[in-house]
This record gives sequence, C-alpha cells and structure tokens, in this order.
Amino acid sequence: MVEVLTGQEKAEPPLGLYVHVPFCATTCDFCAFYQVVPRADAIPRYLDAIEAEAGLVRWEQGGAGPRRIATVFWGGGTPGLLRAPDLERLGRAVLRHTGGAPREWTVELAPATVTADRLAVLRALGVTRISLGVQSFEPALLEALGRQHTVAQVRRAYELVRGAGFASVNLDLMFALPGQTEEQWLADLAEAVRLAPDHLSTYCLTFEEDTALWVKLAQGRVKLDPAKEAEFYRRAWDRLADSGFAQYEISNFARPGHACAHNVNTWRMHEWVGLGPSAASQHAGWRASNPSDLGQWHDDIAAGQRARADRSELTPALLAADSVAFGLRMNEGVSLPRLQRRFPTPLWERLLDLVPRLLFDGLIADTPEGRISLTARGRLLADAVGAEVLACFAAEPVSP
Ligand SMILES: C[S@@+](CC[C@H](N)C(=O)[O-])C[C@H]1O[C@@H](n2cnc3c(N)ncnc32)[C@H](O)[C@@H]1O
Ligand code: SF4
Repeated sequence: MVEVLTGQEKAEPPLGLYVHVPFCATTCDFCAFYQVVPRADAIPRYLDAIEAEAGLVRWEQGGAGPRRIATVFWGGGTPGLLRAPDLERLGRAVLRHTGGAPREWTVELAPATVTADRLAVLRALGVTRISLGVQSFEPALLEALGRQHTVAQVRRAYELVRGAGFASVNLDLMFALPGQTEEQWLADLAEAVRLAPDHLSTYCLTFEEDTALWVKLAQGRVKLDPAKEAEFYRRAWDRLADSGFAQYEISNFARPGHACAHNVNTWRMHEWVGLGPSAASQHAGWRASNPSDLGQWHDDIAAGQRARADRSELTPALLAADSVAFGLRMNEGVSLPRLQRRFPTPLWERLLDLVPRLLFDGLIADTPEGRISLTARGRLLADAVGAEVLACFAAEPVSP
C-alpha cells in the first residue's frame, strides 16, 4: 500500500491547490483539456485574474485560521508556456496562500517548453516535482498525435530537469495509439525505464469528443481495438513491475516514496481548491468548476464570483460513491468500514450487496491489509465496475 499521509495530515486532512494554466502553442490531436493559444496580453491578464481568484477563496473554515496547503499541482494546458518571470509571479501568488512550503508541488511541462531559466525559477520557488508530457519516443507516433516536440527535445528536456535537481520526475506515456505495434509500445516502456524517472503515468488513448482524433474515428480512418488496449495494459503492468516501478493506480507507477500525493489525496476524496478556467474545486462543502472559457472566467472573477458551474453539494452519498469508485482503482484499495464511518449514508447497503458479486466475478479482491481493490481483470473493466458503484449511491433508496 502507498503511504502518502504524514502523521500531521492524518490529524488534519490534506488540502490541495490545483492551478489550471490554459495555454498551449497548438492543440494536440487527442487533447480535450481546456486550452487556447495565448494572444498578446493574455498571460498578464491571466496572472491578474489568478491572483484575484485566490483572493476570493474562503481559505479559513470554522474560525480556525487558513488551512495549510499540503500539495500544489499546476496543470494545463502547458504551464511551461509562461516565461520565467511569469512563472515566478504565479508561484509567488500561490505561496501567499500555502502557509509555508507545500510538501509536494508538481508542474506539468511539455518537453518543448523546458528551458534552464524556467527550471531555475521553479526550483527556487520550491517546486518538487516535474511531469513531462512525453507520450512516445517514436517519431512517427508523435507526428500522428500532432505533438510539437521531437524525441531529441524529450531527451534534452529530461536531462535539464534532472540536472536542475527536482526531487521527483514523472514521464507521461500514451499507448494503444493508431498504428502503434506492440514492439513500439515495449520500446517506449524500455526507453522510459532507461531514463530512470521516479514516476511513470501510462495512459490508454481515449478518443475525446471534438478532438482531431475523434473526427478520424467518426470517419472510420482509425479504429478502436479493445483487445490491443488490454494487451498493451498488461504488458505495461508486467514490464514496469519488473523494473522497480510499483503500480499504485491503474495508470500510475512509482519508485518507493514517489507516488503523486496530490492525485492520491483527490482520489481519497480529500479537499482541493482549483484556480483558473475549467478548474474544479472540492472545498467548503461544495464541488464545482470554473467555466471552460477564458473570457467567461475573467468576467466571473471580475464580478467577484468563482466555481459556479456544475455545482453539487458534498453529501455523504456523493463522497461515498466517489471514494469507492476512485479508491478501487488504487492498489491500496478501500476499507469499507472506514469509509462507512467517514461518509455515513443508508445507501451503503446497496454497495454491500454488490461487493460479493464483484468478488465472485473476480473483478475485486481482498488485500492483505483487509481492504478491497480491483484485480488485474477488474482494472481492465474499471469503468464498468465504477459505473456499478456509482449506481449504488445514485438515489435515495425506495422505502418499502
Ligand atoms: C493535461 S495533459 C497536459 C500535459 C502537457 N500539456 C503536455 O502535453 O506535455 C496530461 C497528460 O494527459 C494525457 N492525455 C491527454 N489527453 C489524453 C487522451 N485523450 N488519452 C489519453 N491520455 C491523454 C497525456 O499523456 C498528457 O501528457
Ligand atoms: S496534450 Fe498538453 S500540449 Fe497538447 S494540447 Fe493538451 S494540454 Fe496542450
């Protein structure tokens, strides 16, 4: 089991801070994350608005003073598209609210944006973790994904990041790409292992609506291949386990001590504040998002409003559902008795009725620590299992 909570955090549940940097030079063919090409004054305006949005957050709860922020994650988009002085300004804005150095601070960087001056600023701010969006080491596949970087740029970026001395480095890889052979996937894994990062995220390509690849799928120019996906998944699990990377979630592998605490805390249904367009928050009794529209977000912040879209109250049923659905995807699994105490609702009865069938079907198993988690077969069917879990908590039980 991955232990990512310190004693202090067990006493006070960890609070995360996510900042969405919505800028990219171009749009990759697979990507549905909210991002735009920045116009002339877009970045200074964005930084003004992030500072203003942070000022709107109710950091204090229950009269106990502002909570310390345990983890920070800058995602995108491409945070690395900001110049070094802009990264510094964003970092200073964040540090005004963290109550000291965050325990973990991740910044996602696209390899083409990695420069020594940006890395120096990030190190000086206290960033601990860099996540590089590599996707593949195969030039033809990078090209087919519409990526802007070359394999040589990935290697150079990795060396610069390592040379700058960050405590933890992640590489993102994607698999089951159109035309990708099993040999190419194994070669990508081998090259990633050879570089010796601390963490690897391996994502099965999803065809997201309104992306260039989605259009190709709709036109029949590329095809889904579930058998190939399953085989590539299995290959990654075996290969990475053999290379010293422990799987701690369906898509995530780490050397000891390098699991991403920010993500683990969100999967454990702790709280986080999200700043920037499209960012979601789970905080102060509510889950809600900012609009996925830079102009609309600016208008909201100027009007003193934030996190207004998709607003749901954090009821015990909602948190129970998501803590099981996301928790099962982690190798540490979930302790149902503990979650029942944390999120009490009569709807647990339905989940307790479902568990024996999932066990019987070999989709979940008991862990040595007395918890339950997905089996390898369950991981391949994780979305279907998750849907069944969510359905258990979907509505109040009908009274007899
Ligand atoms: C939020 S993206 C941003 C990373 C950064 N902008 C970059 O591209 O280098 C994080 C990761 O999600 C993964 N990803 C994005 N869209 C995906 C998709 N449609 N299918 C599978 N993985 C995807 C990619 O591996 C990507 O590096
Ligand atoms: S994958 Fe990364 S670089 Fe490509 S469009 Fe998405 S956020 Fe931007």
